[in-house]
Amino acid sequence: MPHHVPREIRYNFEYERRLKACFIGAGGHAYRNVYPTFRYAPVDLAAICDLDAARAQGFARVFGGERTYTDHAQMLATEKPDVVFIVTNYTDDGHVRATELARDCVLAGAHVWMEKPTAASRAEVEALQALSAQTGMKIMTGLKKTFFPAIEKLKDIIEGPGFGALSALSVRYPQSLPKPSERRDLVAMQSFLDHIYHPGSIIHFLAGPIERATFEWAGNTGGTVAALRFKSGAIGSLHFSAAQSWAGPFERVEAIGEWSHAIVENGVKLTHYRQAELPSYGRASSWIQPEESAALLYEPEFSLGQLYNNNMFSLGYAPEVLHFCEAVLENRPLTKGTLEAALEIMKLFDFYSQTPEGVAAAV
Ligand SMILES: NC(=O)c1ccc[n+]([C@@H]2O[C@H](COP(=O)([O-])OP(=O)(O)OC[C@H]3O[C@@H](n4cnc5c(N)ncnc54)[C@H](O)[C@@H]3O)[C@@H](O)[C@H]2O)c1
Repeated sequence: MPHHVPREIRYNFEYERRLKACFIGAGGHAYRNVYPTFRYAPVDLAAICDLDAARAQGFARVFGGERTYTDHAQMLATEKPDVVFIVTNYTDDGHVRATELARDCVLAGAHVWMEKPTAASRAEVEALQALSAQTGMKIMTGLKKTFFPAIEKLKDIIEGPGFGALSALSVRYPQSLPKPSERRDLVAMQSFLDHIYHPGSIIHFLAGPIERATFEWAGNTGGTVAALRFKSGAIGSLHFSAAQSWAGPFERVEAIGEWSHAIVENGVKLTHYRQAELPSYGRASSWIQPEESAALLYEPEFSLGQLYNNNMFSLGYAPEVLHFCEAVLENRPLTKGTLEAALEIMKLFDFYSQTPEGVAAAV
């Protein structure tokens, strides 16, 4: 089954069956990137809850929410939704508010879609796993990068004929790691926890679980380079390129197979260098490859007012919400944004927070 499956998108009002949805959180990210996906998903937005009543009311006006609340327990008891979307923030001591909220929603009988991070510890993710297994309620984290068309296509290339087995994966992402004395402090580690879900989800999606790792740390910027060994036998690197320019594309993913490789730059530009002969060394007058071994380039156009060149689709927001809604409506398991994936990312977080530089550790 390919990972990248182009499809025709339905508009919200064209669905015959829609899920009764509640939303916890009326913050900036939700406004820009999550509520707008409902235009393309089978949901009826029954109610919005935020601690700030004015924000909840403002969002309800803009996004067509019918009722507003400031207490999620009251909303769950009154509305009895099929599904709840949670996009909240952190407690003062650095815990993820959504973890506890997800638990309340599941116990009230609703399936949950929540933004990353799922939690601030492995134990909390495991508790959600147990709760989901016990109740049959689905809990999905918005691992948007595993829904990027370019990353899905990269996964298909890795698994496709002619790539060979994945031998190495290299991911660069701008993020700083605090100094050693602060790495067990959730407040100091908040930004790191918030962002490790992005490269962490790509790494888990493309290469599977990590077996062991070691990293080096740049004291002036907090940048790190980690060497990874995957359970599959592949190797990899995770370069947290702190202090790179904000003027450039943020990230780069490079997968090496066996005499073939592919690169995703800036989340949208995918180049597949297929298996090819080296032009005769010292003699070849041209580097042009025959068509069957030439590089393939995938890049979106930005001329037409299409869905695919809107960040709601190119950055995976609408597809991740659809994945959740369809899994609930059709009663099938989630395959992305799973708690299992979140647990692997938390293991990587623990590795950085607990392992000194230069020491190899099991992940
Ligand atoms: N995937 C992405 O691209 C992406 C991008 C940005 C942020 N995020 C994630 O989205 C989340 C929110 O980020 P943000 O910048 O919008 O935060 P924010 O602080 O702007 O918004 C959070 C909102 O949640 C509300 N809230 C908190 N606890 C609540 C509760 N118990 N009940 C009701 N409302 C509550 C707050 O009042 C606030 O309005 C974070 O988890 C962040 O990691 C993801």
